[in-house]
Formats: sequence, C-alpha cells, structure tokens
Amino acid sequence: MFVHTWATEVAPAYRAVLAQALQAHRAHELDAAERLYEQVLTLRAAQPDAMHYLGVLRHQQGRSKEAVEWIAAALKITPHHPDAHNNLGNIHKECGRLSEAESCYRRALECGPDHYNAQSNLAVVLEAQERLDEAFEAYGKLLQQAPRYAQGHYLMGLFLRSHAQHVQHMEQSAECFRTAHALDGGNVRALEALGISLYVLDRRDEAVQVYRDWLEREPDNPIPRHMLASCGGAPAPPRADDAYVRDTFDGFAESFDEQLLKNLGYRAPQVLADALAQVLPQPSGSLDVLDAGCGTGLCAPLMRPHARSLSGVDLSGGMVEKARQRGGYDMLDVAELTAFLAARPHAYDLVISADTLVYFGRLQDVLAAAHDALRPGGWLAFTLEANAGEEDRIELSPSGRYQHTRAYVERVVAAAGLQNARIASDTLRREGGQPVHGWVVLAQRG
Ligand SMILES: C[S@@+](CC[C@H](N)C(=O)[O-])C[C@H]1O[C@@H](n2cnc3c(N)ncnc32)[C@H](O)[C@@H]1O
Repeated sequence: MFVHTWATEVAPAYRAVLAQALQAHRAHELDAAERLYEQVLTLRAAQPDAMHYLGVLRHQQGRSKEAVEWIAAALKITPHHPDAHNNLGNIHKECGRLSEAESCYRRALECGPDHYNAQSNLAVVLEAQERLDEAFEAYGKLLQQAPRYAQGHYLMGLFLRSHAQHVQHMEQSAECFRTAHALDGGNVRALEALGISLYVLDRRDEAVQVYRDWLEREPDNPIPRHMLASCGGAPAPPRADDAYVRDTFDGFAESFDEQLLKNLGYRAPQVLADALAQVLPQPSGSLDVLDAGCGTGLCAPLMRPHARSLSGVDLSGGMVEKARQRGGYDMLDVAELTAFLAARPHAYDLVISADTLVYFGRLQDVLAAAHDALRPGGWLAFTLEANAGEEDRIELSPSGRYQHTRAYVERVVAAAGLQNARIASDTLRREGGQPVHGWVVLAQRG
C-alpha cells in the first residue's frame, strides 16, 4: 500500500545508507530500517526521503502520531512529493480520519495527476464517506487513467456490488471482477468475488464452474474448496477450514482499502457493546476480557473501559498484526479459537466475538469451550448471520459465511450450559446494497 520510490536527488554520502534502509523496509525488517533511516538523518539532517519513510515506518510500529509529524516535516522540505502526500493520506485513512486523508490524496493528485494509487485511494475514502456519486466518478477516472490496473477493476466491482441498485450493477460487477482477474491472474480475490456476484445473479452453475476451474488449477487451495461448497457444488464442512480462514483474512489484512469497503455500515462491535451495556456494571476496568476472532481490533476501544486485561485471539497473523498496530490489547495471540478457549478454563469474565462465529457452522464445540473459559457469572456475547427459517438449521451461504436459525442458536446455547440467553435481531452491515440481518446473542455462565 505504501509506495517506496526515489523522490529527490540523493547525495552520495548517505545514498548507500538510504538505499539499505529502503531495502530493509521493503523486506519488513523494521528495526534495521529504523536504525538506517536514523543514520541517514545523522549524516544529513532533515533529509526528506529518510523523514518520509521513517514516518511510514513509525505508523507500521503503531506510532501514528509521530508518523504524521515526520511526513508533514518532510513535506515542508519537498512540498510537491505525491508519494509523501499519498502515504500521509494512507495513515490518516487507517486512523479513520477520512476527510484529512481525502485532502492528502487530492494534494497528491495536484502534484502528480497520473498517480493512480492516490486516485484509487481517493475513490475509496469518498466511498467510505458514503459520497457515492463522487466515488463512482473517482473509480471511473481511475479506470480511464489506468485501464490495465487490475486492482482498479476489482475495487470498481466491489463498489458496484456493495451499492447495487439494479441487476445491471451486479452484472457490471461480475464483468469488473472478470477483467481484474484477466489482467492479473494472481488476483484470486477477484475470482472469489466473481463467483459471489454470479451466484447472487442466480447464475449458480457459472459460479460453481468458476470455483471448479480454479480448484482444478490449484487443488490444494482452501479458498475455491470452501467457496465451491458455499454455492452447493460440494458438501459444506462443519466449520470453515483453518487454512481457508487464514488465507482469506491474511489477504484481507493486506489491503486496508478493501477492509474499509467491506466495513461500510459494519456495526457488529458497536451492537454487541450496546447489548452488553445492558447487563454489565458501569465500566470500571475490572474484567478480564477476550476478543475472540479479534480481526484488526475494532472491538478493542469499545471493550477497553471494561477491561482489567484485554486479550485478542485470531487465526490470521495478518489481522493480528493490524490489531497490534491499532493498539489497545494487553495480549494478542494467533491461534484457532476453539482450541484457544479450551486451553483456558475460568480465564475470562467476558468473551466477545463479533462477526467471527459466522465462520462456524456447528457451534456446539466453540460454545462449550467458551462456557468453560468463562468464570461463573461471566458473559459471552457474539453475533451471527440470521437465517430467517423457523426450523432448527444451519446454512453455508454463497458469501462463504454460515447462517443460523434462531431455533438452532437457542438449542446450542442451552446445550453448552449457558444461561440467561438473550437473542436479538439487528442489522449488522450491508451487502449488495441490502442490509444483512444478524443475531446478537448474550448468554451467561451460571
Ligand atoms: C469478519 S472478521 C471480524 C473481526 C473482528 N471481530 C471485527 O469485528 O472487526 C472475522 C475474524 O474471525 C477470524 N476467525 C474465523 N474463524 C476463526 C477461528 N476458527 N479461530 C480464530 N479466528 C477465526 C478471522 O481470521 C477474522 O479475523
């Protein structure tokens, strides 16, 4: 996401050190890169490239305030550097300061009108601010500017699918995903997205074919295997395979742009926090809390006031890394949730799990493990996607997530030994222009 290119003429005395710093930075050797940038700055005070990339690095270390200061200082010296404006925008965007991010991307485009990364980022922040006409125009401009940029077609496809108002939008989204994959065979997320759009368009056989062909090319890839099951082309597993979850979310974590898009209208953490406020005492920093399937850490700021200790666990190392950058946790682990809970009896006063048990079909094992991991009187709070059926059942949906009926949830919560169950229905996010309905479940260990 961050663009590393040379910007200014570099004098020989520190050039080699700066080159080494950039190399270490690209290789994610952050400690080495930090030392080398600092060395550049002792060799030549206020060298703007070192300041700019040290700023990028500070953000990656979770020190975003300093990051902004470094890049702003670099921009005082080289005010027409589009990459620096773009990277400053990325930091604001990742910190949720969307209008500041927008200004930075606009400045990057003033300095470098062909900077398609900035154009793409501008479209994303306009969409995230729900300025949909402007976002559509910005994505269109991106495709004009860089017609062979696969990610641009992919993002346009996601935009059309997220805000589809007519069947044509969904059809256009499928075309965008097809083009994205044709331009970049490595962009398998476009293939996954294509299958979903085809399924939603009721072209189930074509969706099945997309996944079958993909699986034939890559028989060990857990993503097409899971997605084939999700559209009825193979039996559904009892829960999403660990490898599927890891691959999906590691890929997802790499692109905060996509995350912002998918999180449009995403409310699960807030909805759980509101529900918990009705059963927990006033926040007093006294509970041991686990964020189960913490992802990038969106629950952390909501749970922190209740927590004496706040732990997070997730199967995806990429997501955990983002959570670490966001901050707020005392401990973070990369592990499978059921096994993690089972190994920690009586460890928590509260276990919260937002939009994670949707990757579990059968809930019995994970709920039993959560019960045992709670102390007596402790609360478990989680969301699920709702299947509106009356009967007791689970369904794997074409999105790759499971849906549960209320009757199923009631039965398995009780079977896990949990008490005082409250199951409310709410809207958790939007998908394909439609609200996604979910269950907000609270239950207590007796
Ligand atoms: C949609 S994200 C939600 C993340 C976060 N709770 C939030 O609300 O933003 C679902 C997360 O669940 C994690 N996950 C899914 N199945 C898991 C499992 N069996 N064990 C641990 N984490 C899992 C994924 O890696 C992913 O980060």
